This record gives sequence, C-alpha cells and structure tokens, in this order.
Amino acid sequence: MQPMQRSTAFLPDESATQALGAALARALRPGLVIYLHGDLGAGKTALTRALLHAAGHAGAVKSPTYTLSEPYRIALDGRAVTLIHYDLYRMASPEEFLDAGFREDFDGNNICIVEWPEKGEPVLPPPDVRILLEVSGHGREVELQALSDLGLLCLERLHYPPTP
Ligand SMILES: Nc1ncnc2c1ncn2[C@@H]1O[C@H](COP(=O)(O)OP(=O)(O)OP(=O)(O)O)[C@@H](O)[C@H]1O
Ligand SMILES: [Mg+2]
Repeated sequence: MQPMQRSTAFLPDESATQALGAALARALRPGLVIYLHGDLGAGKTALTRALLHAAGHAGAVKSPTYTLSEPYRIALDGRAVTLIHYDLYRMASPEEFLDAGFREDFDGNNICIVEWPEKGEPVLPPPDVRILLEVSGHGREVELQALSDLGLLCLERLHYPPTP
C-alpha cells in the first residue's frame, strides 16, 4: 500500500516522543487504526503511553505483552471512545487473533493501536496510519504515513513538530 502522505522527524530524546504522543492524541478520530513499526525498544509503547496520558488516561500503561491487547476509555471531543492497544509480538498464529475476537474490535469506532502488526498478517485489518520508529544515535527517527482518507485527516490535524 502506497502512503498518501508521509512526513519524517527526529526525536532526540524521550520528551520528544512524549510531545509526538500528545500531538497524536489531539489528532485522533474514532475508528482510526494505527500500526506501530520498529524494533524492540524503538519506542512504540513509550509513544502509546504518552498518547494515552495526553488523551486523559490517568493510570498506568503497561505493554500488553502477554494479554496481547489492553482496552482504555478516553474522551474525544467530549465523547467516550474505546482505544485498544495491541502488542502482537508473542502471537503464535493468525488463528489466535481471530479466536480472541480481535477482528471484531476493528469496528470503525474503536481506535486501535498495534505494535508488531507484522505478526498479525494476514488477518489484521489494514491501517489508516503507519508510524515507523528507528533508533538513530541517542534518539529516534520517526516516519508517519497516511494510508487512507481517515489517516490523511489525522495527519493533517497533527501539529508536529510543534511550531513555537
Ligand atoms: N526519542 C527517544 N530518544 C531516546 N530514547 C527514547 C526515545 N523515545 C523513547 N525512548 C526510550 O526507548 C525505550 C523504548 O521502549 P519501548 O518499550 O517503548 O519500546 P517498544 O518499541 O515498545 O519495544 P517492544 O517491541 O519491546 O515492545 C524506552 O526506554 C524509552 O525511554
Ligand atoms: Mg512495546
């Protein structure tokens, strides 16, 4: 799938990752599916945690390594929306995804953020936005890609890097 729009940025430290997470929280739309690509330790969970905290979630955000998915309730423009964070790294087979009922989570209303989407092929529904994180020196390179009209809308609303 060819991106309809792509942008890149350098995240020199964890606070930059947090700022991107906060910007993404403000750009979310119901039904958005985001794939997070990157090696172990690239910052996928750190970005999701920052996004959830900026979206108003006050509690902890753990990596759903063993449960594979973790739901959160957030408010979007005053409306409650479920955001589900997946980490498919330990998924043994596509059947596990189907048997867990994960496909039904992608209902056009829930926001789904997926770490290790590669492990969910070919049963994982397609993304609206892809975020690629890569270790670069002491920081991270990030690439944001819009892959649908909804993804385009999200990235157009995204004000990152923030203008002073
Ligand atoms: N921009 C940044 N520059 C430097 N370090 C960062 C940056 N953003 C996050 N980090 C650090 O990188 C690590 C990222 O860990 P995290 O658990 O988020 O990785 P992950 O991509 O989710 O890995 P996994 O595939 O194991 O789930 C954390 O220690 C975090 O503090
Ligand atoms: Mg992680």
